[in-house]
Order: sequence, then C-alpha cells, then structure tokens
Amino acid sequence: LREKYLGRIAAAGDEAELEEARLAALGKKGEISLAMRALGAMSPEERKTAGPALNALKDEIAAAIAAGRAALADAALAERLRTEWLDVTLPPRPAPQGSIHPVSQVTEEVTAIFAELGFAVEEGPQIETDWHNFDALNIPPEHPTRTEMDTFYMARAEGDERPPHVLRTHTSPVQIRGLLEGGAPARFICPGRVYRADYDQTHTPMFHQLEGLAIDRDISMANLKWCLEEFFSAFFGASVKTRFRASHFPFTEPSAEVDIQCSWAGGQLRIGEGDDWMEVLGSGMIHPHVLRSGGIDPDAWQGFAFGMGIDRLAMLKYGVPDLRAFFDSDLRWLRHFGFAA
Ligand code: PHE
Repeated sequence: LREKYLGRIAAAGDEAELEEARLAALGKKGEISLAMRALGAMSPEERKTAGPALNALKDEIAAAIAAGRAALADAALAERLRTEWLDVTLPPRPAPQGSIHPVSQVTEEVTAIFAELGFAVEEGPQIETDWHNFDALNIPPEHPTRTEMDTFYMARAEGDERPPHVLRTHTSPVQIRGLLEGGAPARFICPGRVYRADYDQTHTPMFHQLEGLAIDRDISMANLKWCLEEFFSAFFGASVKTRFRASHFPFTEPSAEVDIQCSWAGGQLRIGEGDDWMEVLGSGMIHPHVLRSGGIDPDAWQGFAFGMGIDRLAMLKYGVPDLRAFFDSDLRWLRHFGFAA
C-alpha cells in the first residue's frame, strides 16, 4: 500500500492527479480509510500492531501529498518567471505625435499680443439671436448687409413667427454681450468661429474672426490706428506693409478696412512684396446706436472696434495660398507646411 501510493504521488503531474491519489488513499472510500475501518473486526493483538502502522502510513501519505502540492506550486511559479518578463531597457515604439492646428496657433498668438496691450478675452455663442447679430449692431431688418453676409438661418417650428436664430456671421455680436455684461470703460477681444455661405480660395463657410474693442472717455481713430499697427508689426515683423482704406460698416462711423501687402506670383503667397493687397480687417469708431444697444451712454463714452480674419492672417504668415486647405484635415498637407509631426 505504501509503495503504491507514494509512487502515485511522486508521479502526479498536476493538482488533479494528486487529488485523485488522495481520494483513492484517504477519501471516505479510500483504501487506507477502509483498512482503518476494518481494524474494528480484528482481535486486540492484531489491532495493537496494525493500528499504529496504519496511522503512521496515513500521516506519511498526507505529508507526501502536501509536499507534492508545494512542489507543483514552485514549478508553476518558476515557469511563469521564465515566460512572463519585460525588458525595461528596450526603447519605446514610436507613437504618432499630435500638434496644434495652425489656426489655433495663430489665435493663441494674436490673443497673447492683445493681452500685452491690455485686452481681456470675451466669448459668445455661435448660434446667435437675430437681435445680437444684426439689430443691436445697427443693421435693421431691411438693411442690405443681411443679404450680403450670406447668413445661415436656423429653422423655426412651423407657425413660429419670431425671427430665426442665425449662425453668427461675425464676432461683432460679442461686442454687445461684453458691453451689456461689463459696461464702460472696456477693452476686450473675442476670438471665435463665424459662418457665411461662401466658398472659394479665400472664403470658407466656417472661418475664424477676432473682434476687438476699446471704450473710454476720449478714444479716437488715432488710437485705433496705433493699436492695429502695433499689432501687425508684432505679428508679422516690422517690415509688414499695411494699408488703411476708408470703408463702410453699419456699426462703425467712420470706418476703415486694413489690407496687407502681398504677392501671389507663381502660385506662392508672400507678404511684404508685390503689388497685391489682401483684406484682413474691418474697423472704425463704434456707432452711437451700437453703444446704446450695449447699454453705454454715447455722450459720455466713445470707442473703436475691429474685426480681423484669423485664417487670413494664418494664410499670410505661413504663405498658404488656399484657405480651404486649413479645413481639409489632410495630414500630408499639415506636415508639408510643418504643422504636424
Ligand atoms: N464685423 C465686420 C465683418 O465681419 C468687421 C468689423 C468689426 C468692422 C468691427 C468694423 C468693426 O466684416
């Protein structure tokens, strides 16, 4: 019996075989258990020698099983240690790296320059009320600017006669929101997305503007011009050539547009040379009606405002001849211009 079970335990290759051996020897119907039960039928003399011998055998087999279990666990651990390992000295696999979109880069840069000039940042919603986008800016319902701006209108429920909301056509409604919230004096910019149904080399249906305004007791066109020239030389470098051109906006009087000198020769867009000009900005002295819409008394305060096309600044700065490329999300293009790794 002893040889049989010790041999079986030694040969067991896994937990299950060990357990089988244990049941066969020490289980309820195991051979050794049965032999121990048979002790009762023996004579006292026989029992005296057989009893202790069986008990010793039982303990020996139990100990062998415990030792077998421990050996199996050791072997399993050794196997895991052999197969599961990590070489922490290996170099990492290269992971693709993200980068900041050129339009976001320019927005951040422009915001930083105006921060130096003391301008805070305001934001407004992209879905705007008809009043904030037009009426408050001195653009009454029949004004031609409403159609010139190629406005996207939001649908109203049938039978709802209120004027529809619009995708804001410019960042100028944030002038009104900022003034109603903060009052005068004021000095802030508002960068953001704007929308017009227009599409060609220099127009996309969604584009980015940056509005700015300054209101105080005695602000003039001269302050406006200084501020913008300061900005353009900080952004493009001192050699940039700007042109202020008389213009018209319903929300400013007088008004001026600013162009940047550039050349488109040979499909290349360059600044500071050639005799082309790209319009990048509208500006002027804020109209008294607009000040009133913003809760400001035009007899006590005056101010200037401007709105620039951020994407156009990016085109000029990076020599990108087609605005639409900025919004194609083509990684090859972004890499070619050094905008992505
Ligand atoms: N909102 C004008 C536009 O989108 C730009 C502008 C802003 C002009 C502020 C004057 C003052 O064209």
